[in-house]
Amino acid sequence: MVIVSEIDEARAALQDLIAGANRIVAFTGAGISTECGVPDFRSKNSPWQRLKPIDFDIFVADMLQREEAWRRKFALDDIYAQAQPGRGHWALANLVASAKISAIITQNIDNLHQTSGVADEKIIELHGNGTYATCLACGKRHELNLIRHEFMATGAAPICTDCGGIVKTATISFGQPLPETAMQRAHDAATNCDLFLAIGSSLIVYPAAAFPIIACQHGARLIIVNDEKTPLDDQADVVLRGDIGDIFEPLAT
Ligand code: APR
Repeated sequence: MVIVSEIDEARAALQDLIAGANRIVAFTGAGISTECGVPDFRSKNSPWQRLKPIDFDIFVADMLQREEAWRRKFALDDIYAQAQPGRGHWALANLVASAKISAIITQNIDNLHQTSGVADEKIIELHGNGTYATCLACGKRHELNLIRHEFMATGAAPICTDCGGIVKTATISFGQPLPETAMQRAHDAATNCDLFLAIGSSLIVYPAAAFPIIACQHGARLIIVNDEKTPLDDQADVVLRGDIGDIFEPLAT
């Protein structure tokens, strides 16, 4: 494992590794979106450090916790709604457009890969998407602006207009099963690439954090781009230690 922390060397190493690869998979975490104003989860000043996650079972069983989950959602929603893609998103979008990247596996729910122009079929969302909601019973999609209007007026957690079921943002909470199709697509991508770029993730939440390992086990080179150490650094071929936007900037234009 080689750690590169000088910015020009990191940029050069990244571009050399990309040039030498034929089929790249990018795996993104919250760190790619922090420069867009979207907080990550485990940096010391993250707002999520003081909010204990509401487990899926609690959300379903406890109306008060459901209302708290919606309060949190709308408290942060303007940050997500106003966020624009950062240099890392634009760089990955360019690499998808040039067919260097075959898939982007993301843990993020901020829709910024889509906003940067990457087609849905190239994006694999392991933890869902926070820009809309769905009914847990019938699957009907519900738009957030309508829910927000109602919630701000009544404070009551939304129920499905079709079936009366519980409505939840289309994100995956702790304790909620990950989407099978996304997991299968991510496994197929990770086992069919020659370079796996893990970008902006602490790589501690499973099963998502298993995909860099699976890629290595199937012969891919693993590059970790992060501003702090991760538990998988020792398994990486190269670690680019620094700011994601700075490192990817030459590829973002
Ligand atoms: N440049 C480089 N690294 C950065 C930057 C940046 N600009 N900003 C943040 N980071 C790093 C942080 O130091 C941290 O190591 O990105 C990493 C983000 O880690 P987390 O906050 O743990 O986010 P993530 O890995 O995506 O979390 C995984 O956990 O809470 C659940 O479902 C949630 O999808 C999320 C999952």
